[in-house]
Amino acid sequence: MVKNMGKNNKKLWGGRFLSSTNTKTEHFTESLSVDIRLYKYDIKGSIAHAEMLGKTGIIPQKDSVKIIKGLKKIQTDIESCNFRFSVSDEDIHMAVERALTDDIGEPAKKLHTARSRNDQITLDMKMYLKDAIKNMIVLIEDLQGNLAEKAYAYADAVFPGMTHMQLAMPVTFGHYLLSFIHMFERDQSRLKDIFGRADEMPLGACALAGTNLPIDRLYVAKKLGFSRVSRNSMDAVSDRDYIIETLAAVSMIGIHLSRLCEDLVVYSSSALNIINLPEGFCTGSSMMPHKKNPDVAEIVRGKTGNLIGNLVSILVTMKALPMAYNRDMQEDKKPLFDSVDTVCGCLEIISELMKSVTLNSGALNKILGADLGLLATDLAEYLVTKGIPFREAHNIIGRMMLSDTALKNPREITLKELRKFSDKFGPDSTKLLDMKNSAANKKSLGGAAPVGVKKEIRKWLKKNR
Ligand code: ARG
Repeated sequence: MVKNMGKNNKKLWGGRFLSSTNTKTEHFTESLSVDIRLYKYDIKGSIAHAEMLGKTGIIPQKDSVKIIKGLKKIQTDIESCNFRFSVSDEDIHMAVERALTDDIGEPAKKLHTARSRNDQITLDMKMYLKDAIKNMIVLIEDLQGNLAEKAYAYADAVFPGMTHMQLAMPVTFGHYLLSFIHMFERDQSRLKDIFGRADEMPLGACALAGTNLPIDRLYVAKKLGFSRVSRNSMDAVSDRDYIIETLAAVSMIGIHLSRLCEDLVVYSSSALNIINLPEGFCTGSSMMPHKKNPDVAEIVRGKTGNLIGNLVSILVTMKALPMAYNRDMQEDKKPLFDSVDTVCGCLEIISELMKSVTLNSGALNKILGADLGLLATDLAEYLVTKGIPFREAHNIIGRMMLSDTALKNPREITLKELRKFSDKFGPDSTKLLDMKNSAANKKSLGGAAPVGVKKEIRKWLKKNR
């Protein structure tokens, strides 16, 4: 897109300057190389502004028409790589205005009436962000849909639930996957909240105080799809909360993805090996012929560090900035663009990967067949139903876990053996020695029982497919 980053000496803001800008200053202060990707929004905003200037009679209608035609041509030029960018243009706003002046002459000088780059940049960023949020929500929904489909396929598949990375209680793989759907649902809701707050049009705040000219801000807001306009011009140009909030929300998405990825790495490790990661999402070792490494999951886990770093970067940039616009704020773009790009890439690849994850039933059955501990809480709760206080029941089963009984395959443990620990164990208690029954018995609301989980899965499938 950037055809020629040449130098263009005459500054549009150069009136009070007698000498030219130092070349190093130009290179140091330019943001064009980063904010160039805002061109579409910048031009759209300028078209709405020019329309408003014509409609209100602040500039002649015929000039407004010429400006709009010129802006549309600039968009086509940029998109067909026929636009000459110059580092001395500083940023996308000046680049567009300079090109417009070169193209249409006098009328172009009226475009920046009742506007400053201070309100223009935050307008562009909000427009960009609103689209970015919509896109992130679609990607999250896609991932949720794939998780729900996988959960449906494995709705009855017993899976060892862990706490502290120790075997804890049986759940189903469907229930496990659903837990991530809920995490991503909160992420979506955070993004929607941010969208609502960002949906406030700052244009018309101008440099910081508004303008003497009779602008129609509501008209521009409607044209640009904003639901309302900002009510304090100083806040409007100095606010970057929407960027901080987005970087926080995106970091949270990263954290959620990193936790899923950590599980994928651990569960697929050759030591545990209870899930199979599709080969298409793994890579080999250049030296060790036997390796199948979970690189995609690891890189997503790693990229979460970049997301959190970008959040910290904007927080530190904004801390203690004086009212109102300060050039420091130009540094908001890199972290925002980087985090949005990064998280979209992560969501896309994990969504795809999750479609082909499978369970390794051989390894799973080995674990599930060998660990009475997974059923310890069920046995304690059984005793509770027979009138034993939970703390006492906990002790009884704790002692069972220390005995040889705990070394057996749970299915082979007899009623007689259970009764060695408590005479409250009746004939119905041996049904507890089954992992499937254990999961099925977790019928409390939101628990692991497949009956409830399946209902939940159907709800998500309906919502996200
Ligand atoms: N490139 C600037 C930014 O990204 C645009 C606003 C510049 N305003 C100014 N008065 N120099 O923040």
